[in-house]
Amino acid sequence: MRVLVTGGAGFIGSNLVHALLPEFDVGVIDDLSSGSVENLHPAAWFRELDILDEGVGEAVTEFAPDFVVHLAAQASVAASLIDPERDWAVNAEGTRRIAAVARACGARRMLSASSAAVYGDPVQLPLPESARKAPLSPYGESKLTAEELLAAELAASDVDFASLRFANVYGPGQDSQGEGGVVAVFCATLVSGRVPSIFGTGAQTRDFIYVGDVVGAIMSALMTEAPLHDAGEGGPAFNISTGEQTTIETLATMLRPVAGFSGPYEHGPARKGDIENSALDPRKARDTFGWDARVPLQTGLQMTYRWFQTRG
Ligand SMILES: NC(=O)c1ccc[n+]([C@@H]2O[C@H](COP(=O)([O-])OP(=O)(O)OC[C@H]3O[C@@H](n4cnc5c(N)ncnc54)[C@H](O)[C@@H]3O)[C@@H](O)[C@H]2O)c1
Repeated sequence: MRVLVTGGAGFIGSNLVHALLPEFDVGVIDDLSSGSVENLHPAAWFRELDILDEGVGEAVTEFAPDFVVHLAAQASVAASLIDPERDWAVNAEGTRRIAAVARACGARRMLSASSAAVYGDPVQLPLPESARKAPLSPYGESKLTAEELLAAELAASDVDFASLRFANVYGPGQDSQGEGGVVAVFCATLVSGRVPSIFGTGAQTRDFIYVGDVVGAIMSALMTEAPLHDAGEGGPAFNISTGEQTTIETLATMLRPVAGFSGPYEHGPARKGDIENSALDPRKARDTFGWDARVPLQTGLQMTYRWFQTRG
């Protein structure tokens, strides 16, 4: 079985490629814009390509995947505010093109990474897939458009498909540079002996999901016998999340024993445009393809911190 992973040199993608390789032939397309060569598994077929490049169709046809996992994206909310055109091109148009290529090469199923950002300010917590979509950033908008274009491209084809809306993913391999995930930023800061800064009061909540659980969700969604494109309420979309809210203050407290840090955290001003609370209801994924998040936050934080330590 052959699985193509776009964005396979990135955080989630490289974790997925490592998990897939013992069982599958794995191909990676990545332009290395935010991913890195060190993340690339040497046993994976690899083409350094922008998903918007002309050559992508030929490369994917050469690899001839049975399954496509589309993770390549402009994944930064901040960058989407600076350059919304590029964000739209990569995330929306890029997804449409990968879907067209998946169809042309006769893939069986395509999974595409979406985000909690498609919902915007939550109207209820945890949010089901059918909740109102009101993105607050160009990134959220491009991800929502990507979901629509995926469906438009594949609805009348033999390719089954779904968009997986990831909550706040954390774990080994995450980049702490730029806006990074808060867990990565806190771990990297603590490892280097500095004091992390909490934006705002710290009372804001997020739904933190360990990258190994996200990889498990992708693998379950790939392998299920159940068709995903017509899986009922909320359309061909699945939250990949824990459904639980954790405040940033709690996260910081949980990291203390892990990092051996007893001093006070710093506090900075709240970030403009950040939503206050977030949690996505994961029950549809469990009911449809039998997946549940398994890694408790404390355990995930230990594994993540250890990874940042070994990295120096
Ligand atoms: N990390 C999270 O918390 C989170 C949450 C919700 C959704 N997502 C989505 O999950 C996916 C993976 O995210 P990640 O955290 O691993 O990000 P990442 O930046 O580590 O990985 C993205 C990968 O895509 C590659 N890429 C970017 N633009 C490309 C292009 N035009 N052509 C080819 N490759 C390109 C990058 O080089 C990188 O390797 C993205 O679609 C992201 O939007 C992530």
